Amino acid sequence: MKNIIELKDIHVSFDGEVILDHFNLAIKDKEFVTLLGPSGCGKTTTLRTIAGFVQPQEGRVLFEGQDISKLPAHKRQVNTVFQRYALFPHYNVYENIAFGLRISKTPEEEIEKRVKEMLALVNLKGYEKRNVSSLSGGQQQRVAIARALVNNPKVLLLDEPLGALDLKLRKGMQNELLRIQRQMGITFIYVTHDQEEALTMSDTVVVMKDGLIQQIGTPEDIYNEPANPFVADFIGESNIFGGKMIRDYLVEFEGIEFPCVDAGFGENVAVDVVVRPEDIEILDAQDGMLCGTVETVTFKGVHYEMMVRSDRFLWKIHSIKCREPGDKIAMKIIPEYIHIMKKEAGTVN
Ligand SMILES: Nc1ncnc2c1ncn2[C@@H]1O[C@H](COP(=O)(O)OP(=O)(O)O)[C@@H](O)[C@H]1O
Ligand SMILES: [Mg+2]
Repeated sequence: MKNIIELKDIHVSFDGEVILDHFNLAIKDKEFVTLLGPSGCGKTTTLRTIAGFVQPQEGRVLFEGQDISKLPAHKRQVNTVFQRYALFPHYNVYENIAFGLRISKTPEEEIEKRVKEMLALVNLKGYEKRNVSSLSGGQQQRVAIARALVNNPKVLLLDEPLGALDLKLRKGMQNELLRIQRQMGITFIYVTHDQEEALTMSDTVVVMKDGLIQQIGTPEDIYNEPANPFVADFIGESNIFGGKMIRDYLVEFEGIEFPCVDAGFGENVAVDVVVRPEDIEILDAQDGMLCGTVETVTFKGVHYEMMVRSDRFLWKIHSIKCREPGDKIAMKIIPEYIHIMKKEAGTVN
């Protein structure tokens, strides 16, 4: 599928501080792409660059292959939904949604037709006359989405749009947003700092840190094959070790050699090793080499989280088997669950 948006070597700095560092990203038509990263990493700046509210010092923004770097924001076929909905409090639902069409002097019948379609799309049929300030947070966000979609943008930018909603409502709205994106058949570029939200909703996840892309991939890629310890840690919970690749398919960490499925790192090369908490099997102490003592046990709803102290490391383990604090256990990790990454400068062992 063709690219709808391309960011080419975008460089943005504010007051001498680099915010986006020669940033390159291609987004396909009809894709649901999520920019994921900690607060301050440049997600909003990336969206604002695409929307035309930030002028990068270097680089180009392409829309369907055309350079739109110089095109003013209102001429781009892109709309934004913000976390704070920015609705007009003195207008009713209908007028809030109709606003963009009135600005572009759309005929009244067309406005009526489009607003009706949008109300149906966001499940707010019958709410036309309601004052927006009488609506719940979730309903207000639906109005904001309808308003942003009413003039048929090809790309919708969503900047932490569910951030102000409580957890249960967020989950419901995540499904709604996916349905709306599929139904409209347009590209969504979604920003969140919530990894679970990114994994559930996206076709593609872009993990960012300090204005740099750390990894681009499907949710499965990012989760199963994190490119570096930052991604591993940010995307899920992880046990991260400094280790040594002894040779192909054999890695040492925590003083033990483990068979693994990776090759091509060379021999006796320092690497980082990631093991997910849910990928560690708990055995009786006599049945394994890697032993430890359970320090704490916390019930998490679907599993227990246990912190287990071995000679050198405090392990986090998720299991449906519960052990007691003080229990001695062994840990088993099969080769497929040992993720090996090139050593990063600055990784703490
Ligand atoms: N208009 C601005 N002027 C100066 N600094 C800014 C401006 N906008 C953003 N920043 C800074 O840029 C960095 C990245 O911000 P932002 O893109 O909003 O991050 P995110 O959305 O990932 O939290 C932050 O350190 C922020 O303070
Ligand atoms: Mg932001």
